[in-house]
Formats: sequence, structure tokens, C-alpha cells
Amino acid sequence: MKVAILGSTGYLGEQILEVLERRKDFEVILLSGYSKEERLREQAQELNVSYAFNPRGRKSLWANSSTTLITDYNLLEKVILQEVEGVFFAASGIEFLDLFWKLIDTSRILWVASKEIIILTGELKSHLLKGRENLIPLDSEHNALWQILKGVEREEVSRVYLTASGGAFYEWQGSWDDITPEMALSHPNWKMGAKITIDSANLINKGLEVIEASALFGFSSEEIEVAIQRESFIHALVELKDGFSLALLSPPDMRSVVLNAISGKKRETNPFQSLDFSQIKSLSFDYPVPEKFLGFYLAKEAGRRGKGYPALFCGADEALVSAFLSREICFGDIPLILEKILEQEVKPPESLEEVKAIYYQGYKLAQMLILERKNIQ
Ligand SMILES: NC(=O)c1ccc[n+]([C@@H]2O[C@H](COP(=O)([O-])OP(=O)(O)OC[C@H]3O[C@@H](n4cnc5c(N)ncnc54)[C@H](OP(=O)(O)O)[C@@H]3O)[C@@H](O)[C@H]2O)c1
Repeated sequence: MKVAILGSTGYLGEQILEVLERRKDFEVILLSGYSKEERLREQAQELNVSYAFNPRGRKSLWANSSTTLITDYNLLEKVILQEVEGVFFAASGIEFLDLFWKLIDTSRILWVASKEIIILTGELKSHLLKGRENLIPLDSEHNALWQILKGVEREEVSRVYLTASGGAFYEWQGSWDDITPEMALSHPNWKMGAKITIDSANLINKGLEVIEASALFGFSSEEIEVAIQRESFIHALVELKDGFSLALLSPPDMRSVVLNAISGKKRETNPFQSLDFSQIKSLSFDYPVPEKFLGFYLAKEAGRRGKGYPALFCGADEALVSAFLSREICFGDIPLILEKILEQEVKPPESLEEVKAIYYQGYKLAQMLILERKNIQ
């Protein structure tokens, strides 16, 4: 199968490449990156791919390459529509939202990790996985739910649980304002890009994942619970009406998720790592409290409201994480500003253009509030 990897230079993109390297039945013909252009060029050379997409790409760097550099989104879309059978959405942000929108009802296989894209698409289309076998979730919790729910009738489910590690500060007793970007960037169990790692440290990522699960599986926000499982070896649980629950366990390793996602109906031997049950001495769950994880509850609230609030929230959070990383605001400011963002009136979107406009409205509003906060300090 001829595939494209959007976001190949990121943490997840590199792991997708590692898995695909072992597979002769996949031919990577397009890669994409953004700031790491040298790495993109290296990847393109190693795999001898036909195309590399980078909107900021420098033609001079690709002069002697057998790979064609694409810098224009329209051309990217054209190549994907004409030459590609499957696309991995592993870039951060919403740059590839239009492309996803165009591909979702085609026969192309779409492996999707980019949660913002799912959340924004979910503003207009509900229960994305219903009737769409070409859409495969790559976020580990959603992939786990997808695996479990394959064997269960929808009416048999009473609730689903997404698990969370709790992040680096679950037991933190100090002030959230003392948490620096360096501290927040070290995740206990997963190696991931900056945006998702910061979102994981205050559990906003888990709130976004609740909205993502609702968009993918059509569950209401009341049917989706979140449980803290510190070691991250349980990824999702499905509680059935008859009192039984099904759980999916594996080591916290995205390569296993990717392998499962590309393997179709049969399970393949995992060459990476598997769980050693003799090392698991206990199993316990906990639940995030609003006093500590306000951002998580605000994200859930945005999802409960729907009608533009998820897009507004995502845009604002993007601006806030970036301001925290450049030390313009404190870690504790992120949820406080998001609380103000949710006070805004939003006109429910009716088109993808309107969804994007709300996302950028959230981004700009957060920037204004960041500026106000800086002026007070
Ligand atoms: N990492 C994980 O384990 C994991 C798990 C579940 C879900 N996800 C989701 O997967 C996505 C990627 O996560 P990650 O951890 O791999 O993040 P990452 O390491 O920051 O990688 C992000 C990727 O997106 C590219 N990118 C950034 N800005 C872009 C832009 N404006 N236009 C085009 N491409 C752009 C980056 O290119 P450069 O690096 O060249 O700048 C990189 O390839 C996120 O949506 C995340 O929520 C990740």
C-alpha cells in the first residue's frame, strides 16, 4: 500500500517509520515536516520517497535530491488524492484539517493521531467511526477502545473509561506557578512532542481525549469516564450492561499501537515489548479532582457544550501552551485563562470554515488575555 506520513519528523512520526520499516507491504511515498527540515531530508533519502511536504521548505536544500519538495497545500492534496492509498495524520495542530475533511469519505485508509483534527471535524460530523472502516484511531486510548468495541454491540455498553497516567505532577504539593517548562516537559511514561506533553501535565490532554472519544465513538460526555492509572499499562476500559468490564493492556509504547492499527483484521507478532505480568504487583485507579485539575474539567465542559466550544477551547489551549513554553505565563495561568475563554459566546459553526474561524478566535482571545496578564504582573 502506498502511504503518506504527515508529521514524520515528530516523536510519533519517527515511531510510525520504525514500524513501517519492517513491512514490505507498505511503501512510503510522502513524508512531511516543519521545523526539522534536515531530518525530513534525511528521512526522505533513507526511504527514497517520491515527495516531501514542508510549507517552509527551502528549495536549495533539496536541489540534489531524488525527492520532490512540495511547499504548497493544494499540490500536496493533489498528490495525495492521485497517488496515495493511506495517510497517517501524526502532525500537531490543525494544518491538515482540510485534507482530512476531504479524505474522510473516500476509500483512503486514515490513521489518525492528531486529536485536534478529530475534535474540529466532530463539530460538524458525529460518531465518525460509524460506517467508516477506513478511519483508524492512533491515539493509544482511542485505539484501545476501538479494539475492544470491535467485539461488543453498542447497546451492550454502559460506560467507557479512558485511562490517564496523571502526568508528572499528580502528587505535586507545591504551587502550580513554580512549575517550569523544563519540569512540565518530562513525562513519566511517554515520550511525546511539547504540546501534548504540556497538556498531559495538567490533564487538559485527557479532557481533549474525552471530546475526541465522543467525536469518534458517538458516546455522550456522561458515558465517558477518566481513571488515573499511574503506570499506563491499561489504556481503556469498557463497562458492559451486565456488570462485566473489558480492559486493554499493553506497555506504554506507541509502536505497538501503530503495529495493531496497520495490521487489519489479524494480530501480528509484536517485535517491540510486551507486558511482564510478574512485575505488576498491584493495580489501582484514582480520579482527578477539580481543585487540582481545573483544565481537565474545563475541557470536558467545552465538550459537553459542543457547538463551537471544543474548537474555541482547542485554539485557546494552543496559544496558552506556546506562551507557557516561552515563559510569558505561568503553568497555573493556563486553566485560569481557559476558564475566561469559556465565558465567551460562540455562534455554533455550520461549515468547516466557521469551525476554523472559531479555533482562531479562541487562539486570538487567549493571546489578548495573555497580554493582559503580562501587563498586570
Ligand atoms: N507522541 C505520541 O506518543 C502521541 C500519542 C497520541 C497522539 N499523539 C498526537 O499526535 C500528534 C503529534 O504528536 P507528537 O508527539 O509526534 O508531536 P511532535 O513531536 O511535536 O511532532 C509534531 C509533528 O508535526 C509537525 N508540525 C508541527 N507544526 C506543523 C505545521 N504548522 N505544519 C505542518 N507540520 C507541522 C512537526 O514537524 P517538525 O518536527 O519538523 O517541526 C512534527 O513532524 C499530536 O496531535 C498528538 O496529540 C501523539
